[in-house]
Amino acid sequence: MSWDTIDLDRDEGVATITVDRPDRLNALNTDTLEALEEALAEARDARALVLTGAGDDAFVAGADIAYMAELSVAEAQAYAELGHRVTDAIETFPAPVIAAVNGYAFGGGCELALAADLRVASERAVLGQTEIDLGIVPGWGGTQRLSRLVGDELARRLVFFGERVDAQDAHQHGLVGEVVAHDELDDHVAGMAAELAAKPKHALQAAKEAMNQVHETHQSAGLTYERRAWSGLFGTDDQREGMRAFVEDREPEFE
Ligand code: COA
Repeated sequence: MSWDTIDLDRDEGVATITVDRPDRLNALNTDTLEALEEALAEARDARALVLTGAGDDAFVAGADIAYMAELSVAEAQAYAELGHRVTDAIETFPAPVIAAVNGYAFGGGCELALAADLRVASERAVLGQTEIDLGIVPGWGGTQRLSRLVGDELARRLVFFGERVDAQDAHQHGLVGEVVAHDELDDHVAGMAAELAAKPKHALQAAKEAMNQVHETHQSAGLTYERRAWSGLFGTDDQREGMRAFVEDREPEFE
């Protein structure tokens, strides 16, 4: 499959999805968002996924403001549902997802990054939930996912004021996990993804699913989920191989 504004590359178990609409700073119109949904479905067998934006300026500058300007309530609802399907597909993607935030990540762009497992920012990145100044609120998960990363007080400040934060501040707030030199971002993230792709995939998937429960359930239900996920992994070859390799003092060879 190929799309006009989304690229999907695959290399040794690592899939890289690039939003490729640089003349609009990779803003997500409906076609691009639908293509992104399809690309995420197509990449589901990957062992690690990288999400980034084309060009030197933007990760994703948000939902497409020109498209949204005249939407009716019903049309806005359909657009929100599409955005939610995409961010849910990132959050529940079976393998770890790394957002390589290579520039502006505003509004819906910030929300794509929030749905990823890990965020690595270029020193040039600027992030923010800027919707308030467009007369709306974050609509693709930002009102829910931001506070779990940065805490409720700061999340409210970012959403209420629509503040744009640079990479260093984003790192200090926990909005991104790491900041690297702009020219090193792609190689750095590719290295992380390759390392993850070499890990036992069932265990990684179980870790991700169990850790996602933190945001879905009360702690007691999450702990029950964890117990089941943990014991279920004892039916996999990777568990046997990983433990036997340790006992036999050799490197494991995962499936
Ligand atoms: N939707 C639609 N088009 C967008 C866009 C968006 N979210 N963000 C940028 N663009 C377009 C601009 O309209 C411009 O188009 P043009 O060349 O036809 O004029 C082009 O992308 C380049 O953007 P420009 O504003 O000229 O670049 P800049 O470097 O001066 O500023 C930003 C970059 C990101 C600071 C600025 O574009 C911006 O604030 N964008 C909106 C961000 C936002 O609020 N996103 C949340 C949406 S929910």
